[in-house]
Amino acid sequence: MEKIVILTGAGISAESGLSTFRDEGGLWAQHRIEDVATPEGFARDPALVQGFYNARRVQASKVQPNAAHEALARLQRDWPGDVVIVTQNVDSLHEAGGAKDVIHMHGTLAGALCSACGHRWTAPPEMAVGESCPACARPTARPDVVWFGEMPYFMDEIYDHLASASLFAAIGTSGQVYPAAAFVHEAQAAGARTIEINLEPSPGTSGFDERLVGKATQTVPRWVGHLLAPHT
Ligand code: APR
Repeated sequence: MEKIVILTGAGISAESGLSTFRDEGGLWAQHRIEDVATPEGFARDPALVQGFYNARRVQASKVQPNAAHEALARLQRDWPGDVVIVTQNVDSLHEAGGAKDVIHMHGTLAGALCSACGHRWTAPPEMAVGESCPACARPTARPDVVWFGEMPYFMDEIYDHLASASLFAAIGTSGQVYPAAAFVHEAQAAGARTIEINLEPSPGTSGFDERLVGKATQTVPRWVGHLLAPHT
């Protein structure tokens, strides 16, 4: 049965109340990437970086999944083949919406990472500067989020899924950050049909076979309903 691989971005969580990055008034309009989303920025000012992720972690814990998250969970449950969700998002709204085995290629706000020994644990709501690693006791705790200049997680697994996809969908992403922005080409090279679902066509929209334009809470349930119709 056809395998569906779905890539999501910040746009799918926008209607749950979480800012996107590059839209008007988005996170990158309020903060400098160099200061809060690079290893160099963390070395320079760990208090600023921990503060940035603490605020996002607290905010993310207060919001609910929306109809788009729930529709993807339904697709995963009811589609007769595999449905793999890869997200660039660090919130846990896919899981809160019922999705399983979500691949967080940019990490999660819910996780903490020791930059000395690599140990991972559940992050407290507010991480302190110099927080100690529960495994090696060194003061080297950081948010388990992938920063610019760092390698995203689970790339081999993701490429395997793209190579065996029949249908690839990119939802709520501006397609400006690599390697995620190139997934459409990987999937197409493997013979998959491709669709972009976004509030507006992204700069890379011509790379897709189809597109659905509109708010995710409207477009995604409609798209899922269309896919599942022959199977329900
Ligand atoms: N429904 C659907 N799409 C939406 C909605 C909505 N309600 N609101 C915004 N969008 C779309 C925007 O049009 C935009 O194309 O979501 C996209 C969000 O793009 P970005 O802010 O660039 O977010 P994203 O693509 O996820 O960023 C990728 O960049 O900053 C890094 O690591 C960070 O994971 C992030 C990566």
